[in-house]
Amino acid sequence: MAIEQTLSIIKPDAVAKNLIGEIYSRYEKNGLRIVAAKMLHLSRQQAEDFYAVHKARPFYKQLVEFMISGPVIVQVLEGDNAITRHRQLIGATIPKFAAPGTIRYDLAYHNRSNPEAHENAAHGSDSHDNARAEIDFFFKPEEICRRTR
Ligand code: CMP
Repeated sequence: MAIEQTLSIIKPDAVAKNLIGEIYSRYEKNGLRIVAAKMLHLSRQQAEDFYAVHKARPFYKQLVEFMISGPVIVQVLEGDNAITRHRQLIGATIPKFAAPGTIRYDLAYHNRSNPEAHENAAHGSDSHDNARAEIDFFFKPEEICRRTR
């Protein structure tokens, strides 16, 4: 299998619930290495630009408001088949449709008071091209650390 890099965002709901460590732990236990990371409070412009592909969708405005509602952590994950592996770990986009054991089911849906809410804990790039573009959106090449040990 190929070593890949992908972009993860731990979204404002998960940061607010102190789930950063839980999500990092799931990544690390499942063969994903964090090779770059930072906390940011996205500006409206950044959120609109990052999700520009969804501009025409009915959920776009709600998505932008959610993404600027609090700080996020963005990270580059690296590992065998990292793009698909990460998508499997986070689960289906809408938490109530995600499988038990996934980040979105366990940390955004299960035991939550409002199960219809769209807040879904994490984002993961869905293709090689998007992974490259999304990593470049948040990180300069020199901010990505090659693991030397
Ligand atoms: P994410 O993986 O960050 O990619 C696009 C985001 O749009 C997605 O997670 C959700 O936060 C949001 N999204 C996608 N589909 C819907 C939907 N049907 N209703 C509300 N939000 C959605």
